[in-house]
Amino acid sequence: MASYKSGKRRILVVMGTRPEVIKLAPVIMALKRRRGEIETVVCTTGQHRQILDQMLGVFDIKPDFDLNLMKPDQTLPGLLQSALRELNKVTDEVRPDMTVVQGDTLTATAAALSSYYARVPVAHVEAGLRSHDRNNPFPEEANRLIVDQISDLMFVPTKTSCRNLEREGFPRSRIFITGNTVIDALRQSLRRTGGAMSCCRSSRGRKLVLVTLHRRESFGRTFKGILRALRRTVEENRDIFIVYPVHPNPNVSIPAREMLKHPRIRLIDPLPYLQFLELMANSDLVVTDSGGVQEEAPALNKTVLVLREKTERSEAVAAGCARLIGTNHSDIVRELKLSMSGLCETKRKCANIYGDGKASERISSIILNHFYPEKHRLPAEFIRDITLKDIEERDA
Ligand code: UD1
Ligand code: UDP
Repeated sequence: MASYKSGKRRILVVMGTRPEVIKLAPVIMALKRRRGEIETVVCTTGQHRQILDQMLGVFDIKPDFDLNLMKPDQTLPGLLQSALRELNKVTDEVRPDMTVVQGDTLTATAAALSSYYARVPVAHVEAGLRSHDRNNPFPEEANRLIVDQISDLMFVPTKTSCRNLEREGFPRSRIFITGNTVIDALRQSLRRTGGAMSCCRSSRGRKLVLVTLHRRESFGRTFKGILRALRRTVEENRDIFIVYPVHPNPNVSIPAREMLKHPRIRLIDPLPYLQFLELMANSDLVVTDSGGVQEEAPALNKTVLVLREKTERSEAVAAGCARLIGTNHSDIVRELKLSMSGLCETKRKCANIYGDGKASERISSIILNHFYPEKHRLPAEFIRDITLKDIEERDA
């Protein structure tokens, strides 16, 4: 790492999993557009491997550091221990002026902690999400609380997440409603796409249900109940065809491949982002426990059934374009059938619920303003007002 002589502020961006790459790629691009004043250093923990590399390829990100930490069926304490140890070395070498983390993963938590201990300010992208139940999702709800607690700048996607932080006593001056950067990634990616996916064509004449599942709190009996419900739904409804890109976690992939053998269920490998969005755009219904997918489905005007007990993405549920149906076998069978018979239409006003595609520009402007308040005077108040106004108009 070159010594810090340029007068530029150095920003360390840390990521470790698939969704962090997707949601930080637009932020990295926006920061790199300010290269005259900001030096952006990208570090990946390698918490994920194959699906991380897949996304780094999609967004053409070449990390400056790759800690390559993933172990088969890794434990949370084991990963936290190695992430803290290795991130500490990176922080020592880079000596950043700020560390940017995203979301609620173990990587985000470890990076925020190691920066905080090194007295490096932390900026949290996708701050303020709360399910208000620290066991659902596990361990993400606790991770969010920890990261927000030690963050200096909090970029929240919505007014709801802003209110969550205000209620917890965080000063409003450190909270910025930017929208979720996943909508930036989605819009930027869709601009580049065209054509239909081959795996969608085989479902012609049938209703296509896109499934993704990976939550730790469901592993074991609950997860098997979900899989049985999916299978039963397909067996009882001849017009349903499921496509399910299977997460590589063995706690997911082994039972999924054992229990979902059926001619109208297609298990596929994780898809590159564009293809996944295309598949979602071509689907009749989305069934998921993913955070990111809950945000993308409404943006594509798709109804989403959330297979979780609690969600921190309450906006889509409140607006009627997502339905929180839990993890109980018979509830899933009943709700899937209801949704497939067209009884639950997505409301059009859901499309912009999580952002307008400009979150990463706002984030980079706020960071620039944070370091160069005289030169880049803008924006904090102005951005906040504009965004609030936008959100209020949308909610009206
Ligand atoms: C992690 C995040 C979760 C996020 C999810 C996104 C934590 C605690 N969990 O969960 O918040 O929603 O990523 O997908 O940070 N594996 C591979 N190859 C890969 C990725 C994973 O083989 O490319 C397998 C490995 O055996 C690994 C296991 O999956 O040990 C679990 O990975 P881990 O990152 O710990 O958990 P996820 O369930 O992926
Ligand atoms: N995704 C993808 N290919 C796939 C499955 C998911 O590109 O085969 C994307 C999806 O569009 C979303 C993100 O991965 O942006 C969600 O990742 P995941 O569900 O693993 O994590 P979460 O969002 O729950 O943290």
